[in-house]
Amino acid sequence: MCGSKRVWVSELIFILLVVKGWWSEGCLEQERSALLQIKHFFNGDQHLQNWVDDENYSDCCQWERVECNETIGRVIKLDLAQIRKWESAEWYMNASLFTPFQQLESLDLTWNSIAGCVENKGLDRLSRLNNLKFLHLDFNWFNNSIFSSLGGLSSLKHLSLFHNRLNGSVDIKELDSLSNLEELDMSDNAINNPVIPKDYRGLRKLNTLHLGGTEIAMIDGSKVLINS
Ligand SMILES: *[C@@H]1O[C@H](CO)[C@@H](O)[C@H](O)[C@H]1NC(C)=O
Ligand SMILES: *[C@@H]1O[C@H](CO)[C@@H](O)[C@H](O)[C@H]1NC(C)=O
Ligand SMILES: *[C@@H]1O[C@H](CO)[C@@H](O)[C@H](O)[C@H]1NC(C)=O
Ligand SMILES: *[C@@H]1O[C@H](CO)[C@@H](O)[C@H](O)[C@H]1NC(C)=O
Ligand SMILES: *[C@@H]1O[C@H](CO)[C@@H](O)[C@H](O)[C@H]1NC(C)=O
Repeated sequence: MCGSKRVWVSELIFILLVVKGWWSEGCLEQERSALLQIKHFFNGDQHLQNWVDDENYSDCCQWERVECNETIGRVIKLDLAQIRKWESAEWYMNASLFTPFQQLESLDLTWNSIAGCVENKGLDRLSRLNNLKFLHLDFNWFNNSIFSSLGGLSSLKHLSLFHNRLNGSVDIKELDSLSNLEELDMSDNAINNPVIPKDYRGLRKLNTLHLGGTEIAMIDGSKVLINS
């Protein structure tokens, strides 16, 4: 009897420790270490100074540019704009770095010189994030090949690709599977003649399409440049 009581007490202590650890961290260990990997991958020493591997500062929900849902202690927003200098050499990102953030709603990668993703770690990896609604990729160097990797991001509502390397004619049908998309910004690229087929029925929720700087050929043969 005495023995089982001791077992019971130690179990209780164990549970208390686990619960205490869980609450006091405020941030999931898996997400904390993923953030440290991102910092390393983005060469972020200058801009992510309080993202440190320090037991006294382990609540990553308190780190700059990170926003959590405090109730569940999960990261919901990551602002990684301008971590790499835009002028710096183009580089390839590893989108798998973001898959631990299962509750992520908003990812801002603006102004980072990203030219694409490393092999097999493309943006299609983000399709595992069922809550992702905002993806900001402005001022990077993505070319038209980005469209084929965005297909699975069906939860996305806002996608911006302002000032990238999209060029030539873009077929809107390539984005068909972004069935929840409400706003799309492809301004300030070298797009001409975006193709939107007659009787087009995809992207049913799309209500705002930004195409500033896009050249459109008119029926009479003249060309019109859409203002930003
Ligand atoms: C954390 O804080 C404790 C108490 O203030 C201190 O003794 C310890 O050195 C700190 N750890 C680190 C890694 O700074
Ligand atoms: C936090 O997450 C819970 C559970 O998913 C959700 O009910 C709640 O609305 C979220 N809070 C905020 C502020 O988003
Ligand atoms: C990409 O990131 C994942 C997750 O951190 C890692 O397992 C993988 O080795 C990385 N791949 C490359 C090519 O960087
Ligand atoms: C387009 O971007 C991909 C990387 O996403 C790259 O492999 C390819 O070479 C680029 N194409 C051109 C024409 O620059
Ligand atoms: C688009 O850019 C690529 C190189 O980045 C080039 O090879 C291709 O000819 C361009 N297409 C158009 C229509 O300008």
